[in-house]
Amino acid sequence: MTTAPTAPFLPWNRPSLGPEEEAEVLDTLRSGWLTAGPKATRFEQEVRDALGAEDAFAVSSCTAALHLALLAAGIRPGEEVITPSLTFCAAPNAIVQAGGTPVFAEIDPVTYNLDPAAAGEAITPQTRAIVVMHYGGQPCDLVAFRKLADEHGLLLIEDAAHALHARRDGARAGSVGDLAVFSFYANKVMTTGEGGMIAGRSDLVQKARLLGRHGIDTSVWQRHGARSTADYEVMVPGLKYTMPDITAAVGLQQFRKLPDFTARRAQIAAAYDRSLAGLPGLRLPTVLEGVRHGWFLYPVLIDPVRSRTRDTVADTLREVHGIGTSVHFKPVHQLGTYRHVECHLPVTDHIAARQLSLPCYPAMSSTDVQRVIDALHAVWS
Ligand SMILES: Cc1ncc(COP(=O)(O)O)c(C=O)c1O
Repeated sequence: MTTAPTAPFLPWNRPSLGPEEEAEVLDTLRSGWLTAGPKATRFEQEVRDALGAEDAFAVSSCTAALHLALLAAGIRPGEEVITPSLTFCAAPNAIVQAGGTPVFAEIDPVTYNLDPAAAGEAITPQTRAIVVMHYGGQPCDLVAFRKLADEHGLLLIEDAAHALHARRDGARAGSVGDLAVFSFYANKVMTTGEGGMIAGRSDLVQKARLLGRHGIDTSVWQRHGARSTADYEVMVPGLKYTMPDITAAVGLQQFRKLPDFTARRAQIAAAYDRSLAGLPGLRLPTVLEGVRHGWFLYPVLIDPVRSRTRDTVADTLREVHGIGTSVHFKPVHQLGTYRHVECHLPVTDHIAARQLSLPCYPAMSSTDVQRVIDALHAVWS
């Protein structure tokens, strides 16, 4: 029989929102301009400048950003896009929606990021692009991927959904690819509830902007704002993926807090590193030299021994200790619509069967962090 936990449930993730976000949203509501307008534009400019990117376009989700990135890349039917399988389904889905074929390549066993050598081996005459992903907030080997893409004339797209504040070897995640996409989903390193951004080469971002605004060549703010005209032209059959100003209002304030959020996430990760090291069969994350980790995830691996497996640990943490965890990810090649994709990914399968994400977010108190540590020690005792 299990004893019900006495402390309130500690979720795997919870956003940190304060009076600053509330005031900025109220200001937007009172301004009379709710949809994509001045705040979305300011948010784009701030992210663009922080990345040193040529251009940025704020959108309704990272999934929308991925779709636009692949459409802007001009993927043609039959063309292949290399991507990891240990990722969220959004990138492979967007590849298919844009008419391409996802090709899953193996990951690095230390960082769980796409392995540049494996991606290189997966290149064929049909390959058009590589979509890398910065797993959990640790950037992939951007120098190697830039070189690989340039050598083969491929587009490099960074799925930086986990990594807006992360760096590797002096380069910020999202600043090296031809395009990069970010997520502001509710559980991400900063949130707007739902939201995303696409940044990178101005020719490609301009295409994405056109496609994400119905194919109309001006913004609604330009058309209906002060001193403007409602005349417009549809240049391509587009979609509607714009970010409203109510959302951008939250983003502007969250972006200001991102360095502090990252610092707090790093503190929690350091506490886990110190206190969980040495538990048998528990592998803690490795941070490479020269990396500023974004710590969206604190991913551990649990070797199955007798009755202790990743799933039993997750169940015990939830049911006995009232602590939520998550799994990142069920590999895409094991998901229904992708099961037919031919691939041999033993490292991905090995990591995915053992991976568990512990709570690691700025809204956690020191007591919360200690509670997770104590619970894991209890599970291992
Ligand atoms: C790696 C990755 N890419 C893309 C997405 C999609 O983000 P969004 O929910 O903003 O569309 C996620 C969401 O979890 C993700 O983890």
